[in-house]
Amino acid sequence: MINDITDFLRATEAAAIAASEWVGTGDKLNADKAATDAMRERLNRIEFAGKVVIGEGKKDESAGLFNNDWVGRFANQKMSDYYELAVDPIDGTRPTVTSGPEALSVLAAANAGCMFTTEEFYMHKLAYGPLIAHKVKLNIHDSIETIVEKVSKATGKAPHRIVVCLLDRPRHEKYVAVLRKMSVRTKLIQDCDISGAIATCLPESGIDLLYGIGGAPEAVITAAAMKCLGGGFQAQIVNKECAIFQPKVYDIEDLVKGECAFAATGITNGSLLKGVRFTSRGPVTHSVMMRSKSGTVRWITAYHGN
Ligand code: FBP
Repeated sequence: MINDITDFLRATEAAAIAASEWVGTGDKLNADKAATDAMRERLNRIEFAGKVVIGEGKKDESAGLFNNDWVGRFANQKMSDYYELAVDPIDGTRPTVTSGPEALSVLAAANAGCMFTTEEFYMHKLAYGPLIAHKVKLNIHDSIETIVEKVSKATGKAPHRIVVCLLDRPRHEKYVAVLRKMSVRTKLIQDCDISGAIATCLPESGIDLLYGIGGAPEAVITAAAMKCLGGGFQAQIVNKECAIFQPKVYDIEDLVKGECAFAATGITNGSLLKGVRFTSRGPVTHSVMMRSKSGTVRWITAYHGN
């Protein structure tokens, strides 16, 4: 895995800046197209060959960097030594075009043959931070009640001190009802469960678990981030109606084998990253980049020229 992942960060910065031009416009298609074109253009400048194995575009029929697209200056050279990429130029198209919170541009990279690929829409997910991961082995097959009980026992935290983050969707009402009955707190988010999962690894977020069904492409990107952060993550494929759960549980190593890298740049303000801001000397971006090999997490504010 390349040591310098700054070029990947440049790709998420470029996508976030392009997307930010469409904040509040209501125009999802053009926002996606702008972000995708900018990410592709920036990736094509890197001296590498990258194969997109998790692209976007299918779920909401947006503009895409699609699965099996090649990027990078050596894209046409059929190298055996290429990188696999999971990209989401906008995670949170809706908050982008409605000036809502938490939209990010994200990218994860791993070595050739190491990243899970899927055309499925949804996965059921369970994410938790390193403090919990070191103390207890959680199992997504368990009920949410059992999972919380295990977390409470392992951490000594009373249920009313535990916070579970879920996408605010009707499909999750049954889980929210169980959690409320247990006096567990819920953090309901409108979109962007990648940042919800990452939050479980950041003690200042106060979030202990991310739980529930979200995008399958986002699950692979989340796995890369959780590997870099030392957290725990499991996911199961569910059908488009979110009713049938496939029995196989994918853990981090099933989704991203070996070393990986992750980069994200805020589009709109969120709990993880601030959004793009425009100044007289150009845009300002806030990003995070991390590598699993070193465990380094870098928070970067960049002042871009006009
Ligand atoms: P996109 O903006 O990339 O479409 O994804 C936003 C998102 O909120 C993801 O973070 C999440 O995993 C997924 O959508 C949830 O899907 P749905 O909105 O269909 O419940």
